[in-house]
Amino acid sequence: MSTLLTLRDVWVEYGDKIVIEKLDLDIAEQSFVSVVGPSGAGKSSFLRLILGQEAPTRGRIELDGTPLVPECGPDRGVVFQRYSVFPHLSVLRNTMFGLECPKAPLSGRLFGSARRAARDEAAAMLEAVGLGDSFDLYPAQMSGGMQQRLAIAQALVQRPRILLLDEPFGALDPGIRADMHALITRLWRDYSLTIVMVTHDIREAFTLGTRVLALDKRRHDPHAPHRFGATVVYDLPLDKPVDAPEDKDHSITIDENGNN
Ligand SMILES: Nc1ncnc2c1ncn2[C@@H]1O[C@H](COP(=O)(O)OP(=O)(O)O)[C@@H](O)[C@H]1O
Ligand SMILES: [Mg+2]
Repeated sequence: MSTLLTLRDVWVEYGDKIVIEKLDLDIAEQSFVSVVGPSGAGKSSFLRLILGQEAPTRGRIELDGTPLVPECGPDRGVVFQRYSVFPHLSVLRNTMFGLECPKAPLSGRLFGSARRAARDEAAAMLEAVGLGDSFDLYPAQMSGGMQQRLAIAQALVQRPRILLLDEPFGALDPGIRADMHALITRLWRDYSLTIVMVTHDIREAFTLGTRVLALDKRRHDPHAPHRFGATVVYDLPLDKPVDAPEDKDHSITIDENGNN
């Protein structure tokens, strides 16, 4: 599979604080990269780099061999742990917003046939994430799992090639999380996505990923913790067939307390 994203000697610094140092990475198209690491290691900063929300202090990032455009382009979608969706918009409007915004950036609205086409696309995506019966609900009326389904629909309706997930299932109950694992695995295959997912859950990282990256500091200075940044300390390719059975996730059962 060809390389989609390249990072070369990438550093992120805030003032004199080094958060990420010397990151060299190639991410293959259609891979599912899980990113783990201690809190504060720079995992979210890493996602912001790929999203183009933040420029590296040093180094370069390329998408398909071209320098990354420093803004959230339609080729990249993102889902955060919480608050990705707009509380004042219905499910359907939230999803249509993903289409309206890039095409009508000032008003955020489409009219006539463009609007009908956006509605149909949004409706199809909501069906795909299992919200086909919930078009008129508002986020506050939905469970956490449904809200994350909506956030995924909102990101995917723009047909991004890369989906970035920042601890997307961390706030969900274990049973719901298993459903979401099955959903994201299906969407990853159906839409030929490249996914980069940050997670605290090491088992989730291995269950879903085709590759697991651990971000951490290689060097510590106890007198100046800001002096060294995190980088990739483990990079584990998992030889998974892309067309594995869809319910691979169901081999793991987790009870209410998160135990086996
Ligand atoms: N805009 C910023 N200004 C200064 N420091 C920041 C900023 N964003 C993140 N940091 C710092 O960078 C480090 C990594 O943050 P983050 O990427 O959120 O880590 P993680 O997601 O792994 O928990 C933290 O120490 C955080 O305080
Ligand atoms: Mg984070």
